[in-house]
Amino acid sequence: MVESISATVRLNDGADMPGFGFGCYKASGPELALAVREAVACGYRYIDTAAYYHNEDTVGEALRHSGLARETLFVLSKIWPTDFDEPVRALDRSLKLLGLDYLDGYLLHWPGLDSARRLRAFEQLLRRKEEGKIRVLGVSNFLEEQLSELRDVFGFWPAINQIEVHPLFSQAALCRFCARCGIQVVSWSPLGRGREMENPAVRGLAADLGKTPAQILLRWHLEKGLLPIPKSVHAERVRENAAVFDFRLTPEQVAVLDGIELPDCRGRMGPDPLSYPR
Ligand SMILES: NC(=O)c1ccc[n+]([C@@H]2O[C@H](COP(=O)([O-])OP(=O)(O)OC[C@H]3O[C@@H](n4cnc5c(N)ncnc54)[C@H](OP(=O)(O)O)[C@@H]3O)[C@@H](O)[C@H]2O)c1
Repeated sequence: MVESISATVRLNDGADMPGFGFGCYKASGPELALAVREAVACGYRYIDTAAYYHNEDTVGEALRHSGLARETLFVLSKIWPTDFDEPVRALDRSLKLLGLDYLDGYLLHWPGLDSARRLRAFEQLLRRKEEGKIRVLGVSNFLEEQLSELRDVFGFWPAINQIEVHPLFSQAALCRFCARCGIQVVSWSPLGRGREMENPAVRGLAADLGKTPAQILLRWHLEKGLLPIPKSVHAERVRENAAVFDFRLTPEQVAVLDGIELPDCRGRMGPDPLSYPR
């Protein structure tokens, strides 16, 4: 169990990464720069971006201005499937925009619909990992069959699978599969993009425990061994989201949140990896 915002978890490749992160999707410019600076000031050490977010330059600049030593940060970016034919070029572009000479984490952002291209990209990136340009190579939005294919071809499980997880769409079976294989699940949209905070069960627990709905949701991820990466561009929310290490949810309270899941994947907020991106 992660006990502070900068505490680390050990991955299956032997690397350590912070057990809590800061999301940067749909944020840009001075607003994002301020939010990243606030995040590192209050203890976030894992910053999550992607080429697709078009904000790596702003993230890199904000991190440089934070004054924190490079090795204390865990900077993660992602490659979009349209770049799978030239993954080294995509990685170098991200490094240049971020102003870094290595990435702590680099993920295939989506499996894409072409398995051969995905496997070739992963293989080329493995070589960049061996050269020290990537510390942890992982994936995002991979289903069981795509994880198993990587295992069959390369002989090991990826270290990370970043997937959509929140109580309305818990992906419990996929999370269990990842846990069995030693793959760390990183929960994207851990707050259900804000929508989940209106849920009466979430609000009820928040009132009972004297916490905010966002804090209740983030604690649910931590109780399950998931690694949440909430995003906010508001300083007070960045701090609020970080303040989740002074209380716990009981198994019964976790079960209450488990109970709000919508059937038939109706709680899903992002796309389905089986058909996206085309
Ligand atoms: N791998 C992937 O395919 C993938 C896909 C989506 C996202 N991600 C990653 O996951 C991160 C998080 O996901 P997300 O940004 O989609 O959604 P999220 O973190 O679940 O929710 C963000 C939304 O909630 C609001 N919010 C945040 N904290 C709040 C609080 N304490 N009280 C009230 N509202 C609050 C934010 O508004 P304000 O900003 O206005 O405060 C924003 O509208 C992303 O930023 C990105 O890094 C990855």
